[in-house]
Amino acid sequence: MKLTILGGGGFRVPLVYGALLGDHAEGRVSRVTLYDTDADRLTAVARVLDEQARDIPDAPPVVATTELDEALRGADFVFSAIRVGGLAGRAADERVALDLGVLGQETVGAGGIAYGLRTVPVAVELARRIARLAPHAWTINFTNPAGLVTEAMARHLGDRVIGICDSPVGLGRRIARTLGADPDRAWIDYAGLNHLGWVRGLYVDGRDELPRLLADPALLSSFEEGRLFGADLLASLGAVPNEYLHYYYFNREAVRAYQEAEQTRGAFLREQQEGFYARMRQPGTPALATWDRTRAEREATYMAENREVAGAGERAESDLESGGYEQVALALMRAIARNERTSLILDVRNRTALSCLDAEAVVEVPCLVDANGAHPVAVSPLPYDAAGLVTAVKAVERTVLEAAESRSRAAAVRAFALHPLVDSVVVARKLVDGYIAAHPQLAYLDRP
Ligand code: G6P
Ligand code: MN
Repeated sequence: MKLTILGGGGFRVPLVYGALLGDHAEGRVSRVTLYDTDADRLTAVARVLDEQARDIPDAPPVVATTELDEALRGADFVFSAIRVGGLAGRAADERVALDLGVLGQETVGAGGIAYGLRTVPVAVELARRIARLAPHAWTINFTNPAGLVTEAMARHLGDRVIGICDSPVGLGRRIARTLGADPDRAWIDYAGLNHLGWVRGLYVDGRDELPRLLADPALLSSFEEGRLFGADLLASLGAVPNEYLHYYYFNREAVRAYQEAEQTRGAFLREQQEGFYARMRQPGTPALATWDRTRAEREATYMAENREVAGAGERAESDLESGGYEQVALALMRAIARNERTSLILDVRNRTALSCLDAEAVVEVPCLVDANGAHPVAVSPLPYDAAGLVTAVKAVERTVLEAAESRSRAAAVRAFALHPLVDSVVVARKLVDGYIAAHPQLAYLDRP
C-alpha cells in the first residue's frame, strides 16, 4: 500500500508515521511519499521520520518530493493535510476578526470562513488531480476547515474522500473513561458538523451511560468538557458538546479573552514552528527529541484562553499525549485496506443520517467502515437548538463554496453575514475587505 501525504512537511506528519510504524500486519502501508510545496520543511520532517524508523526493521521507506503528479501516481491512500497561507495566514484570520470585535479562530466563525475561502480553490484543484492521477485512491482529508473542505473535494471525488478529526474521538474517550467504561467497547451517539457536534449518548452493553454522568456534578467536573462548559450547562443540555462549541456558548467571553491575549494561537504557533524548522536546519539537532518537545508545548497550551475563561485549570495528563488524530487515520486505512469492519466518527456525505440536512451535505457522524468506504449511520434527530446551529453553519459553508466557485465578493459577504457568530452585515463587509487586504490568495474574489 502506498500512502501519499499532501502537506508532508507539516508538523503532525510524525504522528501519522509513528502510528504506521506500529502496524506490522499484512496490507499495511509499505511506502510513504511526502509531498509539500516547501522543500525545506520536507527535509526537516523527513529527518524526524528517519529517526523514528531507526531500529524498526520493517519501517515503511519514505520519499519526499515537491512534484505533485509524481507524488500522486500509484497512491492507494492520499492524506491531505495542507495549510494554505501557512500559520501566518492563520494568524491573520484570527487578527482581522478580533480587531472587528468578532471571534478570530482557526476553524470557527469569521476566521474559519476566511480560511475556507483560501483553501477551497486549492483543495478542489487537488481533488481534480487525484481524480485524474489516482482515481482508485482513497483520500483522507485532515485539511481544515475539515467539513467544508471535504464537501468541496467530494464534489469531485464522491465518497472516495473522507474527512477526519480527532476531537470527537477524544471527547468520546474522555466520557468513557470518566464513566469507567472501555472506550473501545462503547457506542458513541455523536452528531453534527465538524467542530460542531454533540455526544447525546454513550452505550455500553446496550445501556446508555451518559445520563449517569449528566446527573453527577462531581463526575462532570472531573473531565475536560465538564470543566470547560460547567456541570450545570451540560446537565441542562442533556448532551456533551464538542469543545469547539465553547466558542458559541461562551462567545462573548471567548472573544474578549482572545482580544486580551498577548498573541493569537496562530501567532504563537507561527513563532514556535519557525523555531522548530530553524533548529532542524542546524546539523546535529536531535530531530525526534526536538519535535517531541515542541509537540508537548503545543498540546499543553491548546485552547488555553477558553480554559482560563472557564476556570478549567490545566489539561489532564492523558490529553497531552496525543493519540486521537493518527489513530483515527490508521484505523480508517486498516478498515478500508483489509476490510476490517469498524465504526468511526467521520466527515462524510450525509445521505440520510441527519434529517435536517440534504444528502450531499458533509456531516460528522458515526460511520461503519469497510473495504467499500465509510457508511454513515442514521442517528436520532438533533434537537432544534443543535439543528438550528448545524443548518445555519451548513448554509454558511455552502455560501463559501459558492463564493469560491463564482469568485463573487457579494457571496463572500453573505457567507460572513449569515454566520451566527458575526452579528452585523456591516462587520461582514469589513471582514471581506480586511481579509482580501491580508491574504493574496483571496484576490480571486474579483467579481461583484
Ligand atoms: C484539534 C482539531 C484540529 C485543529 C487543532 C488545532 O486537533 O481537531 O482540527 O487544527 O486542534 O490545534 P492547534 O494546536 O493547531 O491550535
Ligand atoms: Mn479537527
